[in-house]
Amino acid sequence: MYRSRLKERLSERVLSYLSSINEDESIFYYDIIGSEAHVIMLYEQGLLNKDDLKAILDALEYAKHNGLQGIDMSEYEDIHEAIEAFVVKRAGMIHGGKMHTARSRNDQVTLDLRMKVRDDIISIAKALLSLVDSLLVRAREHKDTVMPMYTHMQQAQIGTLAHYFTAYASMLIRDYERLESCYARVNQSPLGATAVGGTSLNIDRVRVASLLAFDSVIDNSIDATSSRDFLLEYLFVLSSIMLNLSRMAEDFIIWSSSEFSYIELPDELASTSSIMPQKKNPCPLELIRARASSMLGLLFACMGIVKSLPSGYSRDMQESKRLAIDAYKLVYDSLDIMRSVVDGLKANVGNMLRVSEHSYALALDVAEGLVKQGIPFRFAHKIVGMLVAYASKNNKTMKDLNREEISTIVNELAKDYSIDSIDSLINMLVTLKDISPMESIMLRRSLGSPNPLEQERMIKVIEEKKATYYTRISKMQERLEGALSSLGKTVTDIIHS
Ligand code: ARG
Repeated sequence: MYRSRLKERLSERVLSYLSSINEDESIFYYDIIGSEAHVIMLYEQGLLNKDDLKAILDALEYAKHNGLQGIDMSEYEDIHEAIEAFVVKRAGMIHGGKMHTARSRNDQVTLDLRMKVRDDIISIAKALLSLVDSLLVRAREHKDTVMPMYTHMQQAQIGTLAHYFTAYASMLIRDYERLESCYARVNQSPLGATAVGGTSLNIDRVRVASLLAFDSVIDNSIDATSSRDFLLEYLFVLSSIMLNLSRMAEDFIIWSSSEFSYIELPDELASTSSIMPQKKNPCPLELIRARASSMLGLLFACMGIVKSLPSGYSRDMQESKRLAIDAYKLVYDSLDIMRSVVDGLKANVGNMLRVSEHSYALALDVAEGLVKQGIPFRFAHKIVGMLVAYASKNNKTMKDLNREEISTIVNELAKDYSIDSIDSLINMLVTLKDISPMESIMLRRSLGSPNPLEQERMIKVIEEKKATYYTRISKMQERLEGALSSLGKTVTDIIHS
């Protein structure tokens, strides 16, 4: 339809290579409503007459409900061209030929993409908050479930399962905040920037923006058509979400191994083996882990597209749309699956306790017990380190050590350091080494620690944030839906006037 200068048709092979018509399915609706707002503004500015407006709106509404009947999609480069061809066909060139006045596909495609992304942000934000909700439910349930915590994948300190869940709830809450902040930069209208430099026709960009529920317009027409930082930012936030999910997935995969056996996945979330009858494989989690890598690929691909792109629109940008479409599905589905995992996983509480009881992860608690009795920390670190080395060599827990063994170690140490009262140090250690995982948790009350009271406090804080954010995102969604439904009503009123 656009080939006014070009004499020959685009070759079929080239058309199929450069066409975005397939992925454009996901911006079809946005393209229609974007066009509706555009022509209403053109009419209000005196650039279209009432008959033009009615005929175009009628064709657009028809397309919205029935699709582009009579249009062979394979002949078009993209949905913008196909829709315009349909409108020209249905409304006639006299009316339909005016739809694309003061507009380019360059501002149009960015407009559509921004509308899609803002809807997708809302839907991902809600899925994210649902996952946070599930994490909080499980955290409440497991405030007293002790388990080892790890650094370097080695047992480090004793924690609670609740502490783990609130950690990821906090990280995902920050991802939510990133999404919301990104939304503000996405929700700006580029329409009316035209190809790159505006128009001599008397348009009203602000009016179109408000009809389509945008918060503002992107001022500069070069910026409006050639920047994709809104998309990069969005893809980064989605990547951040996927990085969090992939770390959780990795933990759950490890924890569900026979060696750890801290958790068990419900059967509905596990696969098995074609040959080994005993297998219960955490495949959905493995795919979350892999899809996190795919997500990074999408972000990197988008950065690569933008890097060194000359200012102004280039067709390269078309490829970024596909990335945004793929990213949404990937992240939404992963959030959904992770939520089922969190809801359904069974914690092997007894096993976690047993491992904790046999763990040297209580060493720091013993050392801090000495510190409370006035022993310098570095010295306490040394003594307890020696106890652990001895216990580990003799295949014992710290609790298994008897007074004689402790006394030998302390006396050994006394050769290098002047110790005021060897006996009282031995007495302290004899008591402290018996500390249980739960006692260790109860003693550690520093802000943010796994202590059940701290967990209760954190759950409350996150719960409040989650509730506030849920209300906020729902209001944003209602505002959007309200504005778009009133645009829909304006359109129907005009058609029937
Ligand atoms: N299909 C194109 C895209 O997705 C639409 C814009 C084309 N603009 C152009 N000047 N060829 O980016």
